Amino acid sequence: MPKIKVAVVGVGDCCSSLVQGVSSYKNGDFVGLKFHNFGGYKPSDIEFTAAFDIDSLKVGKDLSEAIFAPSNRYEKVNDVSHLGVTVQKGEVMDGIAEYLRNQIKVDKRPSVNVSEELKKSKTEILINFLPTGAVQASKWYAEQAIKAGCAFINTTPTAIASNREWAVRFEEAKLPLVGDDIMNQIGATILHKTILDLLVRRGVKIDQTYQLDIGGGVESLVTLEKARGDIKREVKRKAIQEAVPYAVPIVAGTTDYVDFMKNTRDSYFWISGRYFNNTPVKIDITLRTVDAPNSSSILLDVIRGVKLALDRKVYGTIDTLCAYGFKNPPKPYPLSETEKMLNQYIEGKIKK
Ligand SMILES: NC(=O)c1ccc[n+]([C@@H]2O[C@H](COP(=O)([O-])OP(=O)(O)OC[C@H]3O[C@@H](n4cnc5c(N)ncnc54)[C@H](O)[C@@H]3O)[C@@H](O)[C@H]2O)c1
Repeated sequence: MPKIKVAVVGVGDCCSSLVQGVSSYKNGDFVGLKFHNFGGYKPSDIEFTAAFDIDSLKVGKDLSEAIFAPSNRYEKVNDVSHLGVTVQKGEVMDGIAEYLRNQIKVDKRPSVNVSEELKKSKTEILINFLPTGAVQASKWYAEQAIKAGCAFINTTPTAIASNREWAVRFEEAKLPLVGDDIMNQIGATILHKTILDLLVRRGVKIDQTYQLDIGGGVESLVTLEKARGDIKREVKRKAIQEAVPYAVPIVAGTTDYVDFMKNTRDSYFWISGRYFNNTPVKIDITLRTVDAPNSSSILLDVIRGVKLALDRKVYGTIDTLCAYGFKNPPKPYPLSETEKMLNQYIEGKIKK
């Protein structure tokens, strides 16, 4: 198969996990993947072509080293050999959250011409890994993807794929677009939705529910800033509400940053409802995960799905991939549907 030429914006924890995963899955152990072969593509078909960041500890380094810069919290689980991709300086804009201003030093070099670098490196797909709330910067990089003729994967909660104007712009540029806010492999949102879906299917009336988490990843610190946290909370709330066919009071989001937890996250779920004859039921669950690798398995599928769209010349938002892989897709579908749709998409039975 031809290589899938992928560039990344934001060499943070999720990027580190993806790069480490692509490197380790070359060695033949496929634990943790739903698809080793996705429409003919393997994880080892992914080739990193360019990388952009603004952190002085990352810019100028090879991507294989920059992912282990001390400002990242996800630990080294694999050695990654030299990739020959130097992290280049991007545009800062609203990339640095209030609580990170003392922790991240912006590199002093001038920004590169991102769209030109994407073209030069023959990048096919640009992945946006910017922090939550970097709305301006995310839109700016989406613009660079269009200029350079690249498909765009938005792992962040900024509304791009779910925004009609952007969807039309990518369609007109004949480029695939997917997003928004990557759905974790076994994260709080998918688990919460699955439990609520089960309760609804069993006739239980759900009265109230919350999903609160604490974590030590940079992203937990970023979302402590109210405006940035609100973006994430709303995406999560909306995603959870989709599992219940009537309005329910839902609270979801990060409540605190705990430095010593590093890249781990503890999520606490509480559901209150009533079953036969108004009998109360309460569910209280804790989920403990490492954050960054939770995004990577689904992302590996999405990258390969976007490559299939490029091969098949299918453009605009790829609804199946958006519904399968993201919390805020342009068109949400029930979980049971997305599985079926994904298989049909891979087989080429549905276009998008
Ligand atoms: N499992 C998960 O961790 C998960 C799940 C769902 C969504 N997401 C989303 O993925 C995104 C990335 O998460 P993360 O944990 O890797 O974040 P992170 O904070 O570890 O990494 C963000 C990176 O972006 C860089 N950056 C900031 N401004 C920039 C700019 N203007 N140009 C270029 N680089 C810039 C930072 O220096 C940092 O390296 C977030 O938006 C998050 O909401 C993550």
